[in-house]
Amino acid sequence: MEVKNLKIGMLTGGGDCPGLNAVIRAIVRKSILYNWECIGIENGWKGLVDIFVRPLDINSVSGILQKGGTILGTSRTNPYKLDGGEQKVIENANKIGLDALIAIGGEDTLGVANKLAKKGFPVVGVPKTIDNDLNGTDYTFGFDTAVNIAMDAIDRIHTTAESHHRAMIIEVMGRHAGWIAMHAGIAGGADLILIPEKEIKIDEILKVMDDRKKRGRTFSIIVVSEGAKISESDQKAGQMVLQDQKIDAFGHVRLGGIANLLAEIIEKQTGVETRATILGHIQRGGSPTAYDRVLGTRFGIYAVDMVKNGKFGRMAALKGAEITDIPIDDAVSNLKVVDDDFYNVARTFFR
Ligand code: F6P
Repeated sequence: MEVKNLKIGMLTGGGDCPGLNAVIRAIVRKSILYNWECIGIENGWKGLVDIFVRPLDINSVSGILQKGGTILGTSRTNPYKLDGGEQKVIENANKIGLDALIAIGGEDTLGVANKLAKKGFPVVGVPKTIDNDLNGTDYTFGFDTAVNIAMDAIDRIHTTAESHHRAMIIEVMGRHAGWIAMHAGIAGGADLILIPEKEIKIDEILKVMDDRKKRGRTFSIIVVSEGAKISESDQKAGQMVLQDQKIDAFGHVRLGGIANLLAEIIEKQTGVETRATILGHIQRGGSPTAYDRVLGTRFGIYAVDMVKNGKFGRMAALKGAEITDIPIDDAVSNLKVVDDDFYNVARTFFR
């Protein structure tokens, strides 16, 4: 059955992510084949609350595949935290004349999409996050780019660590899940990887460094997720290290700085010169890898066909080598965290 003349909107919400432009481009290019009209909604849900939109044609998505960020802009606006926000989104989508919306985002953006879908709003989701913590999809685009950037940083830090006989701590992103730390740490040959899923005691960290010293290794590479917790004793649970006390519209605190804290503790307790590097937004910026461009393109094309087939309230997902779809509900109800088997792969090298 051929569906004619749809007008579809798309938005990108939450933290930006390499590969977003590949998704936007694919949605527009595929829609053109169906003679559909595409509307870009600017700055995530904010663009539907305030009506900031623009038409997207073949020329508007030309030359964007290799660019980082998102040509539509993004925000962490949560309509459910605004007075009458949900109503505004629904009314404004009608005003614009949208037949369907493709929401490209992580747990927060898709959490909003999920609530709207439950009200009968015609929305499909595309999974995006460098953290790779969305349930129901093997990978999200942006993750591979972030991992490669972090691995490259670890490789560079390795050589200076060795020359100076120092402990080097590299802090990567990952609020609740340690996927970036695990992949970059394993690929970069880290001596220790600290992730939010596995609280670790200071003594265990010092033991690894001591074991290394005993066999003549005078430097250590420690990769830590920003959301990892370190406990100083059996009695005291570890705390996340916050940059400040502010909370965003989705209830998230700003993490960052655990590497500095750890460096201070290690230097004090061992006397080993220790340095911290916080990679921060370098991991999210710049050109996407080939993998992320291809994955984003496949998700975008698939999302258009989800609209065509009326698969609303569902999200495109990668399962093995195939793109399929799952209820958005399944993707946002739980985070996908690092399991014991994978953690044990990394642990083999903690010495
Ligand atoms: O959600 C992706 C993410 O990159 C997290 O890893 C990180 O904690 C957060 O975004 C940082 O957000 P912001 O760019 O708003 O500081």
